[in-house]
Amino acid sequence: MFKSIFSKLLSVYYLIILISFIILGTLLFSLLGDYVTSEREEVLRYTGEKINEITSVLIENNSPVVERLYRMNIESYGANTQSLIIVIDQTGEIFATSGYHYKSIEGQKLSKEQYGDVLLGKNIKKIGNFEGMFSQTVLTIGMPLKYNNEIVGGVFLNTPIPEINRVRYDVFKLFMISVSAAIFIAFILIFFLSKRISNPLKMINKAAKTIADGQFENRVLVTSKDEIGELAKTFNSMAESLQNLENMRRSFIANVSHELRTPMTTIQGFIEGIIDETIPQDKQNKYLTIVLDEIKRLSRLVNDLLDLAKMEAGEKQLDIREFDINELIRIAIIKFENRIMQKDIHINAHFEDEHCMVKADMDSIQRVVTNLLDNAIKFSDNKGVIDISVESKGNKVYVSIKDDGIGIDEQELKYIWDRFYKTDKSRSKDKTGTGLGLAIVKNIIHQHGQEIFVESKIEEYTKFTFTLQKA
Ligand SMILES: Nc1ncnc2c1ncn2[C@@H]1O[C@H](COP(=O)(O)OP(=O)(O)OP(=O)(O)O)[C@@H](O)[C@H]1O
Ligand SMILES: [Mg+2]
Repeated sequence: MFKSIFSKLLSVYYLIILISFIILGTLLFSLLGDYVTSEREEVLRYTGEKINEITSVLIENNSPVVERLYRMNIESYGANTQSLIIVIDQTGEIFATSGYHYKSIEGQKLSKEQYGDVLLGKNIKKIGNFEGMFSQTVLTIGMPLKYNNEIVGGVFLNTPIPEINRVRYDVFKLFMISVSAAIFIAFILIFFLSKRISNPLKMINKAAKTIADGQFENRVLVTSKDEIGELAKTFNSMAESLQNLENMRRSFIANVSHELRTPMTTIQGFIEGIIDETIPQDKQNKYLTIVLDEIKRLSRLVNDLLDLAKMEAGEKQLDIREFDINELIRIAIIKFENRIMQKDIHINAHFEDEHCMVKADMDSIQRVVTNLLDNAIKFSDNKGVIDISVESKGNKVYVSIKDDGIGIDEQELKYIWDRFYKTDKSRSKDKTGTGLGLAIVKNIIHQHGQEIFVESKIEEYTKFTFTLQKA
């Protein structure tokens, strides 16, 4: 029954309202009764005391005349206070009454329930029909009559209270009407409030389900500024991350398959040609060399991918040592000597000093320099110029590699770090690159807690700069 938050909220609110009104109503009802009766009570007690006084007079001067005066007094007290006065002696027998209609009960005995503790010297107050004596509800005030500190009887003053009750019921009726109106309005407000709380939750739940089913483009439209709005925001950003991740996964698989397929097709074609001898025996060596190159490219691709995966999973440990970055750069340049000479590229190296010691993982930094230098040579025109500089500032060393090659379009700059990304312009110049180099470079530098940035102008220059920790 109370499965949804909506029904839970609704029932809890309703219950609270009902309980508070019941408590309020009960309190009001009894307080009202107390208030109206207390005034009457005071008058009756005062009269009771007067009757005690005249009873003492009667006891002291007992004669028929005094007794008649006594009874007349009782009657007028009764009339004045609009009550029926009953006087009993110490046995409980009715000695005098004030009401004309009640003369007949004189001489009868009140029951023990009726006089209660009065004959034991206690004041009493009761609301009821005086144990069946009256047909309507009365307020009964009972007091002992004392003479010389001895209890000689009791007096009961009964005043009808329909009057009292009418006031009480009228007020209570008004209260009930306003309560009903309040409850009605509260019910409506609470209904909408509960809906407002539970609806966004339902929406989030629905969106979460569709996301679980693989539809990542779903978002929740919740604009409230409370915790639920906050939850919706967090949920949306989570959905966005998931969507990005999913897109990345898809494009990654597409890229990998594409990069693998091209060399595979080449390899397959040449091997088939050799087996069915479409490629003559004297040319086989040439084609096998191409096949070998393709296989090397494939294995480089797979290794790069594995390395990237390892770096991203934080599995690749750095072996931080001190080494000379200038020396490392010199060796890298020598390694590229053949290509540099083929393209007739001029290399300018600006080293501040002969040596520059840094603290880093040497193999990784070698990879960074090789990658950047490889790019610079690849994307330079013949007779291009490459400037390499090493500068130290504070506790950092800035290494930059600048070429005056094809450059990178401003819009493409931010994508070059992505896996498999190659600029449109570079595709014609370099057909072998896979677009993993810079992704690896960036990972390595970030793993060192250092920075790398790029500046470029299309057709003019490209400059990569990275930092290292000075030893
Ligand atoms: N010096 C540069 N001049 C112009 N474009 C560059 C330069 N360096 C990188 N790029 C652009 O950034 C892209 C990504 O470079 P990255 O090194 O990641 O891949 P790649 O060199 O194409 O392939 P790989 O390094 O995996 O062999 C390049 O394809 C090229 O479009
Ligand atoms: Mg590269």
